[in-house]
Amino acid sequence: MECITNDDAGLSIAKKVASFKAVEDFIESGMRVGLGSGTTVVYAAQKLGELIKSGKLMDIKCVPSSYQAKQLIQNAGLRLTSLDESNLLDIYIDGADEVDSNSNLIKGGGGCLVQEKIVAYNSKRFIVIADYRKDSKVLGQNWNRGIPIEVIPVAITPVQIFLNGSIEGAGPAVLRMSHEIMGPARTENGNFIIDWHSSLLNKQDIHWNELYQRIKLLPGVVDIGLFLNMADIVYFGFPDGKVDIRKAISHKYDI
Ligand code: 5RP
Repeated sequence: MECITNDDAGLSIAKKVASFKAVEDFIESGMRVGLGSGTTVVYAAQKLGELIKSGKLMDIKCVPSSYQAKQLIQNAGLRLTSLDESNLLDIYIDGADEVDSNSNLIKGGGGCLVQEKIVAYNSKRFIVIADYRKDSKVLGQNWNRGIPIEVIPVAITPVQIFLNGSIEGAGPAVLRMSHEIMGPARTENGNFIIDWHSSLLNKQDIHWNELYQRIKLLPGVVDIGLFLNMADIVYFGFPDGKVDIRKAISHKYDI
């Protein structure tokens, strides 16, 4: 199966090699696997499908983090399951918008951050697959689209006012607009997304955890695209086929 994306050839190779290697290194028969969203996981689903078809992997079931992921799972001939049926997954595999030197992530560029965090949290291991452009020293160094925050529509204005001015690190809290319909983009949960251009992005020694807690407590905020201390290992792919592997400080696995 050939994957179709809008990426140029070098970027596609980078995503593909990171995904293929992560699947080869981590996925074993009998596992329950969470699959994330975006253009990179397309290759992870492809590899899983190939290994199943060739008989090298058996009895794999996958939990999707979005409608796109559900389609990827089905198109690759993989079996679907859910957190109701398989409540602690062996592996969660997903892309990221940015990865800092401590393997903290910004996610939600594709608007699926809430389901992604739920599936990641309910997995024993979280493996990130990314192309080389996602590797940053600090959050906001390379990613310039802000921190995605999913908000229930009725709360959008108070939350924007708070993020624009009342909190440490205040900065433009931009309502994400749809490219397909007139008006705001909607998540699969029917909510809006704020892309928060915090003044703390691209700065050293920021305590994102404290900020995360404050924002999460705001009524109407569903979740924030900061994935702090969640990833176990990150695979960065390069256009020449090289893959760099970065273990998070807390990483407990021998690979
Ligand atoms: C979607 C996400 C994606 O994982 C993130 O946007 C990375 O996407 P891609 O693999 O296309 O670079 O967080 O909500």
